[in-house]
Amino acid sequence: MDTQIFKPDEVTAAAALLKAGQLVAFPTETVYGLGADATNEHAVKQVYAAKGRPSDNPLIVTVTGPDMVTQYTEPLSATAKQLMQHFWPGSLTLILNLRPGTLSKAVTGGLSTAAFRNPQNQTTLNLIQAAGVPIVGPSANTSGKPSPTLAEHVYHDLKGKIAGIVDDGPAAVGVESTILDLTADVPTILRPGAVTEEDLAAVIGTVRSNHHKVGATEVPKAPGMKYKHYAPNAQVYIVDQVTDWPAALAWAQTLDGPVGAMALDDVLAANSLPANVEAFSLGQNVASASHRLFDGLRHFDLESPVKTILTQGFAATGLGAAYMNRLNKSAGQTHFQK
Ligand code: TXA
Ligand code: MG
Repeated sequence: MDTQIFKPDEVTAAAALLKAGQLVAFPTETVYGLGADATNEHAVKQVYAAKGRPSDNPLIVTVTGPDMVTQYTEPLSATAKQLMQHFWPGSLTLILNLRPGTLSKAVTGGLSTAAFRNPQNQTTLNLIQAAGVPIVGPSANTSGKPSPTLAEHVYHDLKGKIAGIVDDGPAAVGVESTILDLTADVPTILRPGAVTEEDLAAVIGTVRSNHHKVGATEVPKAPGMKYKHYAPNAQVYIVDQVTDWPAALAWAQTLDGPVGAMALDDVLAANSLPANVEAFSLGQNVASASHRLFDGLRHFDLESPVKTILTQGFAATGLGAAYMNRLNKSAGQTHFQK
Protein backbone atom coordinates (compact mmCIF):
# COMPACT_ATOMS: atom_id res chain seq x y z
CA MET A 1 0.00 0.00 0.00
CA ASP A 2 1.12 3.55 -0.73
CA THR A 3 1.44 5.70 2.38
CA GLN A 4 0.01 9.15 1.60
CA ILE A 5 1.39 12.27 3.30
CA PHE A 6 -1.24 14.87 4.29
CA LYS A 7 -0.69 18.52 5.17
CA PRO A 8 -2.52 20.05 8.18
CA ASP A 9 -5.20 21.55 5.87
CA GLU A 10 -5.92 18.12 4.33
CA VAL A 11 -7.43 16.45 7.42
CA THR A 12 -10.81 15.91 5.71
CA ALA A 13 -9.19 13.44 3.31
CA ALA A 14 -7.26 11.79 6.15
CA ALA A 15 -10.49 11.52 8.22
CA ALA A 16 -12.20 9.78 5.29
CA LEU A 17 -9.51 7.07 5.43
CA LEU A 18 -10.04 6.65 9.19
CA LYS A 19 -13.81 6.33 8.68
CA ALA A 20 -13.13 3.67 6.05
CA GLY A 21 -11.23 1.61 8.65
CA GLN A 22 -7.72 2.55 7.49
CA LEU A 23 -4.72 3.59 9.62
CA VAL A 24 -3.51 7.20 9.61
CA ALA A 25 -0.64 8.54 11.76
CA PHE A 26 -1.22 11.92 13.38
CA PRO A 27 0.80 14.65 15.13
CA THR A 28 0.55 15.46 18.84
CA GLU A 29 2.62 17.78 21.03
CA THR A 30 4.35 14.74 22.61
CA VAL A 31 5.08 12.27 19.81
CA TYR A 32 3.29 11.09 16.62
CA GLY A 33 0.44 8.61 17.16
CA LEU A 34 -0.93 5.80 14.98
CA GLY A 35 -4.65 6.44 14.47
CA ALA A 36 -7.55 4.09 13.80
CA ASP A 37 -11.28 4.45 14.50
CA ALA A 38 -11.50 3.32 18.15
CA THR A 39 -15.06 2.05 17.56
CA ASN A 40 -13.99 -0.23 14.68
CA GLU A 41 -12.52 -3.43 16.10
CA HIS A 42 -11.18 -4.63 12.77
CA ALA A 43 -9.33 -1.32 12.22
CA VAL A 44 -7.92 -1.36 15.77
CA LYS A 45 -6.52 -4.87 15.27
CA GLN A 46 -4.54 -3.62 12.25
CA VAL A 47 -2.72 -1.20 14.57
CA TYR A 48 -1.12 -4.09 16.48
CA ALA A 49 -0.07 -5.72 13.22
CA ALA A 50 1.45 -2.52 11.76
CA LYS A 51 3.47 -1.79 14.92
CA GLY A 52 4.32 -5.42 15.74
CA ARG A 53 2.79 -4.69 19.17
CA PRO A 54 1.91 -7.47 21.65
CA SER A 55 -1.89 -7.79 21.69
CA ASP A 56 -2.16 -7.58 25.52
CA ASN A 57 -0.83 -4.00 25.53
CA PRO A 58 -3.89 -1.69 25.49
CA LEU A 59 -4.17 1.49 23.42
CA ILE A 60 -4.76 5.12 24.38
CA VAL A 61 -8.07 6.56 23.17
CA THR A 62 -7.54 10.03 21.67
CA VAL A 63 -10.45 12.45 22.07
CA THR A 64 -11.44 16.07 21.38
CA GLY A 65 -12.44 16.65 25.01
CA PRO A 66 -14.37 15.44 28.09
CA ASP A 67 -17.69 15.07 26.18
CA MET A 68 -16.23 12.35 24.00
CA VAL A 69 -14.90 10.55 27.08
CA THR A 70 -18.23 10.26 28.90
CA GLN A 71 -19.74 8.34 25.99
CA TYR A 72 -17.61 5.40 27.18
CA THR A 73 -17.01 5.88 30.93
CA GLU A 74 -18.82 5.99 34.23
CA PRO A 75 -19.75 9.60 35.22
CA LEU A 76 -16.56 11.59 35.82
CA SER A 77 -15.33 12.13 39.40
CA ALA A 78 -14.67 15.64 40.68
CA THR A 79 -10.93 14.87 40.47
CA ALA A 80 -11.17 13.81 36.83
CA LYS A 81 -13.11 16.96 35.94
CA GLN A 82 -10.58 19.17 37.74
CA LEU A 83 -7.65 17.52 35.96
CA MET A 84 -9.30 17.85 32.55
CA GLN A 85 -10.03 21.52 33.24
CA HIS A 86 -6.41 22.25 34.17
CA PHE A 87 -4.44 20.07 31.81
CA TRP A 88 -6.59 19.36 28.73
CA PRO A 89 -5.84 19.71 25.96
CA GLY A 90 -2.32 18.69 26.97
CA SER A 91 0.15 15.95 27.85
CA LEU A 92 -1.89 14.14 30.52
CA THR A 93 -3.51 10.76 29.85
CA LEU A 94 -6.13 9.61 32.36
CA ILE A 95 -7.02 5.99 33.16
CA LEU A 96 -10.76 5.80 33.86
CA ASN A 97 -13.33 3.06 34.52
CA LEU A 98 -15.29 2.11 31.41
CA ARG A 99 -18.98 1.47 31.14
CA PRO A 100 -19.01 -2.25 30.29
CA GLY A 101 -19.43 -3.10 26.63
CA THR A 102 -18.51 0.32 25.26
CA LEU A 103 -15.03 -0.27 23.82
CA SER A 104 -13.73 -3.47 22.27
CA LYS A 105 -11.16 -5.79 23.83
CA ALA A 106 -8.83 -4.83 20.99
CA VAL A 107 -8.64 -1.33 22.50
CA THR A 108 -8.57 -2.25 26.21
CA GLY A 109 -6.63 -5.51 26.14
CA GLY A 110 -9.52 -6.91 28.17
CA LEU A 111 -9.15 -4.42 31.07
CA SER A 112 -12.23 -2.73 32.59
CA THR A 113 -10.45 0.62 32.27
CA ALA A 114 -9.13 2.70 29.38
CA ALA A 115 -6.59 5.48 28.86
CA PHE A 116 -7.99 8.77 27.50
CA ARG A 117 -5.87 11.55 26.02
CA ASN A 118 -6.82 14.97 24.65
CA PRO A 119 -3.71 16.16 22.77
CA GLN A 120 -2.72 19.78 22.27
CA ASN A 121 -2.49 19.81 18.50
CA GLN A 122 -5.19 21.63 16.57
CA THR A 123 -4.64 19.61 13.39
CA THR A 124 -5.32 16.37 15.21
CA LEU A 125 -8.32 17.80 17.06
CA ASN A 126 -9.67 18.80 13.61
CA LEU A 127 -8.93 15.29 12.33
CA ILE A 128 -10.88 13.60 15.15
CA GLN A 129 -13.71 16.12 14.76
CA ALA A 130 -13.91 15.33 11.04
CA ALA A 131 -13.83 11.57 11.68
CA GLY A 132 -16.59 11.96 14.30
CA VAL A 133 -15.14 9.17 16.45
CA PRO A 134 -12.31 8.85 18.97
CA ILE A 135 -9.14 7.37 17.52
CA VAL A 136 -6.71 4.99 19.18
CA GLY A 137 -3.25 6.48 19.43
CA PRO A 138 -0.23 4.42 20.38
CA SER A 139 3.07 6.00 19.43
CA ALA A 140 3.55 5.53 15.67
CA ASN A 141 6.80 3.55 15.83
CA THR A 142 7.68 -0.09 15.31
CA SER A 143 7.21 -1.70 18.73
CA GLY A 144 10.42 -1.47 20.80
CA LYS A 145 11.93 1.44 18.81
CA PRO A 146 12.17 5.08 19.95
CA SER A 147 8.88 6.97 19.59
CA PRO A 148 8.57 9.19 16.50
CA THR A 149 8.95 12.95 16.96
CA LEU A 150 8.90 13.69 13.20
CA ALA A 151 6.64 12.49 10.36
CA GLU A 152 9.86 11.18 8.73
CA HIS A 153 10.36 8.80 11.68
CA VAL A 154 6.83 7.42 11.18
CA TYR A 155 7.45 7.04 7.46
CA HIS A 156 10.65 5.13 8.12
CA ASP A 157 8.97 2.62 10.47
CA LEU A 158 5.52 2.23 8.89
CA LYS A 159 5.68 3.09 5.16
CA GLY A 160 3.67 0.61 3.10
CA LYS A 161 1.85 -0.61 6.25
CA ILE A 162 -0.46 2.37 6.87
CA ALA A 163 -2.68 4.48 4.58
CA GLY A 164 -1.46 7.92 5.59
CA ILE A 165 0.52 10.30 7.78
CA VAL A 166 -0.61 13.81 8.71
CA ASP A 167 2.63 15.86 8.84
CA ASP A 168 2.56 18.85 11.19
CA GLY A 169 6.32 19.22 11.75
CA PRO A 170 8.33 18.29 14.84
CA ALA A 171 6.53 17.30 18.07
CA ALA A 172 7.16 20.06 20.62
CA VAL A 173 7.66 18.00 23.80
CA GLY A 174 9.33 14.88 22.43
CA VAL A 175 8.46 12.39 25.20
CA GLU A 176 5.06 10.73 25.60
CA SER A 177 2.28 11.98 27.88
CA THR A 178 2.11 11.51 31.63
CA ILE A 179 -0.21 8.57 32.43
CA LEU A 180 -2.25 9.01 35.62
CA ASP A 181 -4.36 6.15 36.96
CA LEU A 182 -7.56 7.54 38.49
CA THR A 183 -8.98 4.07 39.22
CA ALA A 184 -6.47 3.49 42.07
CA ASP A 185 -7.21 4.56 45.68
CA VAL A 186 -4.81 7.45 45.29
CA PRO A 187 -4.18 8.93 41.79
CA THR A 188 -1.03 7.17 40.61
CA ILE A 189 1.48 8.13 37.92
CA LEU A 190 2.18 5.06 35.76
CA ARG A 191 4.42 6.89 33.29
CA PRO A 192 6.11 10.29 33.89
CA GLY A 193 5.75 12.99 31.22
CA ALA A 194 5.68 16.74 30.70
CA VAL A 195 2.85 17.18 33.22
CA THR A 196 4.93 16.54 36.34
CA GLU A 197 4.10 15.05 39.74
CA GLU A 198 4.47 18.58 41.18
CA ASP A 199 2.01 20.00 38.58
CA LEU A 200 -0.55 17.32 39.47
CA ALA A 201 -0.12 17.67 43.23
CA ALA A 202 -0.69 21.42 42.96
CA VAL A 203 -4.16 20.76 41.54
CA ILE A 204 -5.40 17.59 43.29
CA GLY A 205 -3.16 17.20 46.35
CA THR A 206 -1.74 13.75 46.99
CA VAL A 207 -0.36 11.89 44.00
CA ARG A 208 1.51 8.60 44.08
CA SER A 209 4.14 7.49 41.63
CA ASN A 210 4.78 3.82 40.88
CA HIS A 211 6.81 3.98 37.69
CA HIS A 212 10.18 3.32 39.40
CA LYS A 213 8.97 0.35 41.39
CA VAL A 214 8.07 -2.22 38.78
CA GLY A 215 10.01 -5.38 39.64
CA ALA A 216 10.66 -8.20 37.20
CA THR A 217 8.02 -10.49 38.71
CA GLU A 218 5.38 -7.83 39.34
CA VAL A 219 2.59 -7.26 36.83
CA PRO A 220 2.94 -3.61 35.87
CA LYS A 221 -0.22 -1.49 35.95
CA ALA A 222 0.55 -0.01 32.52
CA PRO A 223 1.08 -3.21 30.55
CA GLY A 224 3.43 -1.45 28.11
CA MET A 225 6.00 -0.94 30.85
CA LYS A 226 7.07 -4.57 30.84
CA TYR A 227 8.31 -4.53 27.26
CA LYS A 228 11.71 -3.52 25.92
CA HIS A 229 11.36 0.05 24.77
CA TYR A 230 13.01 2.96 23.00
CA ALA A 231 16.00 0.80 22.09
CA PRO A 232 18.23 1.81 19.20
CA ASN A 233 20.52 -0.78 17.58
CA ALA A 234 23.49 0.67 19.48
CA GLN A 235 24.21 0.15 23.18
CA VAL A 236 23.42 3.35 25.06
CA TYR A 237 25.54 4.36 28.08
CA ILE A 238 24.17 7.01 30.44
CA VAL A 239 26.77 9.56 31.55
CA ASP A 240 25.32 10.64 34.90
CA GLN A 241 27.66 13.44 35.91
CA VAL A 242 28.90 16.30 33.75
CA THR A 243 32.34 15.69 35.34
CA ASP A 244 32.38 12.11 33.93
CA TRP A 245 32.52 13.24 30.29
CA PRO A 246 36.34 13.48 29.98
CA ALA A 247 36.68 9.85 31.16
CA ALA A 248 33.74 8.71 29.01
CA LEU A 249 35.25 10.31 25.90
CA ALA A 250 38.70 8.87 26.67
CA TRP A 251 37.08 5.43 26.86
CA ALA A 252 35.17 6.06 23.61
CA GLN A 253 38.49 6.78 21.89
CA THR A 254 39.69 3.25 22.71
CA LEU A 255 36.68 1.65 20.96
CA ASP A 256 36.71 0.36 17.40
CA GLY A 257 34.65 2.45 15.02
CA PRO A 258 32.43 5.49 15.45
CA VAL A 259 30.75 6.43 18.74
CA GLY A 260 27.84 8.85 19.27
CA ALA A 261 27.82 11.48 22.03
CA MET A 262 24.50 13.11 22.95
CA ALA A 263 24.94 16.00 25.38
CA LEU A 264 24.09 19.62 26.10
CA ASP A 265 25.92 22.31 24.14
CA ASP A 266 27.98 23.44 27.14
CA VAL A 267 29.22 19.87 27.73
CA LEU A 268 30.13 19.46 24.06
CA ALA A 269 31.94 22.82 24.07
CA ALA A 270 33.87 22.06 27.27
CA ASN A 271 35.27 18.73 26.05
CA SER A 272 37.46 17.98 23.05
CA LEU A 273 35.94 15.14 21.07
CA PRO A 274 38.15 12.27 19.83
CA ALA A 275 38.17 11.81 16.04
CA ASN A 276 35.89 8.75 16.18
CA VAL A 277 33.19 10.50 18.24
CA GLU A 278 30.26 12.27 16.56
CA ALA A 279 28.33 14.82 18.63
CA PHE A 280 24.54 15.20 18.69
CA SER A 281 23.45 18.34 20.53
CA LEU A 282 20.72 18.06 23.16
CA GLY A 283 20.49 21.86 23.25
CA GLN A 284 20.58 24.01 26.36
CA ASN A 285 18.46 22.29 29.01
CA VAL A 286 16.33 19.29 29.97
CA ALA A 287 13.41 20.56 27.86
CA SER A 288 15.44 20.66 24.64
CA ALA A 289 17.07 17.36 25.65
CA SER A 290 13.63 15.71 25.96
CA HIS A 291 12.60 17.22 22.63
CA ARG A 292 15.70 15.77 20.88
CA LEU A 293 16.31 12.47 22.72
CA PHE A 294 14.42 10.10 20.39
CA ASP A 295 15.60 11.98 17.28
CA GLY A 296 19.21 11.54 18.43
CA LEU A 297 18.80 7.81 19.11
CA ARG A 298 17.28 7.38 15.64
CA HIS A 299 20.04 9.51 14.07
CA PHE A 300 22.70 7.09 15.35
CA ASP A 301 20.67 4.12 14.08
CA LEU A 302 19.95 5.34 10.61
CA GLU A 303 21.90 8.32 9.33
CA SER A 304 25.16 7.73 11.13
CA PRO A 305 25.24 4.18 12.47
CA VAL A 306 27.32 3.51 15.59
CA LYS A 307 27.57 0.60 18.03
CA THR A 308 27.90 2.79 21.13
CA ILE A 309 26.12 5.99 22.20
CA LEU A 310 27.04 8.07 25.27
CA THR A 311 24.05 10.10 26.46
CA GLN A 312 23.89 12.77 29.14
CA GLY A 313 21.82 11.99 32.25
CA PHE A 314 19.84 14.54 34.30
CA ALA A 315 18.39 14.67 37.80
CA ALA A 316 15.08 12.73 37.74
CA THR A 317 12.90 15.61 38.94
CA GLY A 318 10.28 17.62 37.02
CA LEU A 319 10.60 16.93 33.28
CA GLY A 320 13.88 15.16 34.13
CA ALA A 321 11.80 12.26 35.52
CA ALA A 322 10.25 11.71 32.08
CA TYR A 323 13.59 12.11 30.28
CA MET A 324 15.40 9.65 32.60
CA ASN A 325 12.53 7.12 32.42
CA ARG A 326 12.91 6.95 28.61
CA LEU A 327 16.72 7.10 28.66
CA ASN A 328 16.97 4.32 31.26
CA LYS A 329 14.80 2.07 29.10
CA SER A 330 16.73 2.82 25.92
CA ALA A 331 19.99 2.09 27.75
CA GLY A 332 18.66 -1.00 29.53
CA GLN A 333 19.82 0.76 32.75
CA THR A 334 23.45 0.79 31.56
CA HIS A 335 25.54 3.64 33.04
CA PHE A 336 29.05 4.67 32.10
CA GLN A 337 31.42 3.89 34.97
CA LYS A 338 34.82 5.48 35.38
O1 TXA B 1 1.92 10.92 24.35
C1 TXA B 1 1.34 9.83 24.22
O2 TXA B 1 0.70 9.32 25.14
C2 TXA B 1 1.42 9.15 22.86
C3 TXA B 1 0.71 10.06 21.84
C4 TXA B 1 0.72 9.46 20.44
O3 TXA B 1 -0.60 10.33 22.25
N1 TXA B 1 0.86 7.82 22.89
C5 TXA B 1 1.48 6.78 23.52
O4 TXA B 1 0.81 5.56 23.42
O5 TXA B 1 2.52 6.90 24.11
P1 TXA B 1 1.54 4.14 23.73
O6 TXA B 1 0.56 3.13 23.32
O7 TXA B 1 2.85 4.09 23.07
O8 TXA B 1 1.67 4.12 25.28
C6 TXA B 1 0.49 3.97 26.06
C7 TXA B 1 0.77 3.28 27.35
C8 TXA B 1 1.17 1.82 27.22
O9 TXA B 1 2.28 1.58 28.08
C9 TXA B 1 -0.06 1.06 27.70
O10 TXA B 1 0.28 -0.15 28.31
C10 TXA B 1 -0.68 2.03 28.70
O11 TXA B 1 -0.46 3.29 28.11
N2 TXA B 1 -2.13 1.84 28.86
C11 TXA B 1 -3.11 1.89 27.92
N3 TXA B 1 -4.32 1.62 28.45
C12 TXA B 1 -4.12 1.40 29.77
C13 TXA B 1 -4.98 1.06 30.87
N4 TXA B 1 -6.29 0.89 30.74
N5 TXA B 1 -4.41 0.89 32.10
C14 TXA B 1 -3.07 1.07 32.26
N6 TXA B 1 -2.22 1.39 31.26
C15 TXA B 1 -2.73 1.53 30.03
MG1 MG C 1 4.78 3.64 22.59
